[in-house]
Amino acid sequence: MILAPWREPLQRAIHLSRSIPYSRYIQLATVSKEGKPANRTVVFRGFLPNTNIIQIVTDTRSQKFSHLQHQSWAEICWYFSKTRQQFRFFGKVILVTAEYEDSKLIKARQTSWQALSDSGKEQFFWPTPGDLLTSNQPNPKINLKDINPPANFCLLLFNSEKVDFLALKGNPQKRYLYFLNSNNTWLTQQINP
Ligand SMILES: Cc1cc2nc3c(=O)[nH]c(=O)nc-3n(C[C@H](O)[C@H](O)[C@H](O)COP(=O)(O)O)c2cc1C
Repeated sequence: MILAPWREPLQRAIHLSRSIPYSRYIQLATVSKEGKPANRTVVFRGFLPNTNIIQIVTDTRSQKFSHLQHQSWAEICWYFSKTRQQFRFFGKVILVTAEYEDSKLIKARQTSWQALSDSGKEQFFWPTPGDLLTSNQPNPKINLKDINPPANFCLLLFNSEKVDFLALKGNPQKRYLYFLNSNNTWLTQQINP
């Protein structure tokens, strides 16, 4: 696997921000069936091993899941307040659910489930996100020790095709565009901030 050139500045920003828990919160934007944008915070769950693919976990009952089923193009925005750097990732998303036909990715889905804290796991047994709150919700039977994720657990794999990196520190500010060319090779251009 060839590490994309944007991985180095990103890794540095992650490292310098390691004591700040919220530095792993990223914004994921999707497009609805009606062509409207939708944006929300999610947690960066590292890279799929030996790839440049960003991992996120989500619920198949959420709106973002249906948006991504319809339109797999999405954007991630990630700002590091400590280093004053913004990374914007443009790419396509693969939705890995229980039915996915690739044993490696099914294994990655299981691994990401096992890596969740108990409270992170419990959320997948909560009532349907976005539905009206009702007072007498039955208490679901859950077994957090089960190694298999529930059916509504989805590993979302974000495969970048373009990355826009803006560094505010310094005068002048710096901005780089990383993109895949037709040979699937990453190229880097410095552009005006
Ligand atoms: C700090 C923070 C972290 C979050 N992490 C996740 C996450 O990793 N996955 C997720 O699906 N939702 C996460 N959420 C909730 C989403 O922001 C959102 O409210 C929820 O997923 C429903 O979004 P949707 O209806 O647009 O799909 C997080 C929210 C916050 C504030």
